Amino acid sequence: MSLNRFSRRHFARIAGWSALGLSTRSAESGQAYSGKEDRLPTPGLGSRFPSGFLWGTAASAYQIEGAVNEDARGPSIWDRFAHIRGKILDQSDADVANDHYHRYKEDVQLIKALGVKAYRFSIAWPRVFPEGTGSPNPKGLDFYNRLVDELLANGIEPFATMYHWDLPQALQDRFGGWMSRDTSKAFADYTGYVAERLSDRVKHIFTINECSRLVHAGYGSGLDAPGLKLSQPELNQVRHNVALGHGLAVQAVRAYGRAGTRVGPAENIVVCIPAIETPANIRAAENATRELNAGYLTVMLEGKYTDAFLAYAGESAPKYTAEDLRIISSPVDFVGLNIYMPNHYVVAADDPNGFALVPFTASFPHMESDWLKIGPEAMYWAPRHVTKLWDVKSIYVTENGTSATDQPAADGKIYDVDRIMFLRNYLTQLQRATSEGVPVLGYFLWSFMDNFEWSDGFEKRFGLYRVDFKTQRRTPKLSASFYREIVERNTVV
Ligand code: BG6
Repeated sequence: MSLNRFSRRHFARIAGWSALGLSTRSAESGQAYSGKEDRLPTPGLGSRFPSGFLWGTAASAYQIEGAVNEDARGPSIWDRFAHIRGKILDQSDADVANDHYHRYKEDVQLIKALGVKAYRFSIAWPRVFPEGTGSPNPKGLDFYNRLVDELLANGIEPFATMYHWDLPQALQDRFGGWMSRDTSKAFADYTGYVAERLSDRVKHIFTINECSRLVHAGYGSGLDAPGLKLSQPELNQVRHNVALGHGLAVQAVRAYGRAGTRVGPAENIVVCIPAIETPANIRAAENATRELNAGYLTVMLEGKYTDAFLAYAGESAPKYTAEDLRIISSPVDFVGLNIYMPNHYVVAADDPNGFALVPFTASFPHMESDWLKIGPEAMYWAPRHVTKLWDVKSIYVTENGTSATDQPAADGKIYDVDRIMFLRNYLTQLQRATSEGVPVLGYFLWSFMDNFEWSDGFEKRFGLYRVDFKTQRRTPKLSASFYREIVERNTVV
């Protein structure tokens, strides 16, 4: 039967949309749209984000700071990796990057100009402990003291990430990095040291940025530092040690941070979307979320590896104790989610897992980065699944954004309408989530300025400000105005 034999209404029902009770409403009034209104509603004025919703932006230490040899900073695994020929697409490194270490005051003004009230940055472990453990380097922490003070003086709340992949090289040399739980323990010591000194002003701490990426790309495919390609049992042990590091760091913040310091992960959740929004597919997507995040969010929030995960790992399963699981699942105050794309579309299936993954078509669209599939509904489903599965009461979207080609036009301006399209659609889905009561408290756009994009070097630009890396000149793109408008109006425009 061809589709044009269905009425639109019929098609909506078979596609499952009507199951969610969606109807056509005018944006302004919230009333059913009769088609008789004599003027069009003002875009975006109908549905606002909850009051107090926190708008922010984000970046990480290695990607922007530069100054890698200054003030007694020790080398990190990324310094070493970036200098190996062939590892970085454009043969660049982040020795200077955005020179943020020297220009942070100017950069805080750029953040302020967006109208946001929060900034998520990461602390470079090798600045604070050049050898990873042992004697701290007071000059390293001083930089973050200055940054935090500058942010607060400008009305911007600091959110600190303890680990965004720049492991001290010394720990790689001594322990094989995250191959050893000595690194997990060292991470907790460093976190406790920093929490004790910054938590008078930094009230929110993220432990590890994207455990799964650092495990898979750093130790599996070798595309990120330290560039290892481990066997499956070794990789599973790394995964466990990283999760343990998260749990120990949560405990360190509790032990050394001021009372009321809030702590949680910032994970790139594997996002599973019901291919068609039927109740059965939604349940299947929830099951898939639980299983496909088994080594990360699931074990952190449930305190156990799922049966399917252990069965699949078999002999390769990590070695661990019951105490490890208790530490890994130390209660957190919020869950941070980095949400860029759909990882899987899911349908219900009659098998023990209860779900099947639908393959992506070759024509599935992506942004400039090949990996960045365009699926705005990821922004709705990821937080919704997290709340539903684990009863999480506080969620932050800790990263979302896109690369784009961003060539300056003849007038010198950057009309990045593709980035605006991307953000508008993702934020619309976020608004869908918050309006249904999914407890997302804030959103951090990645990133406020172009920076060193890991193995892509400076080839990919994710910023709202364009950076000329020769002159360090920062120029706002059209998307900066777009984001400012959303922040001011607290609704998608
Ligand atoms: C996130 C990282 O996974 O993706 C960021 O946390 C990174 O640090 C962003 O910049 C974009 O990723 P990539 O691989 O394209 O540089």
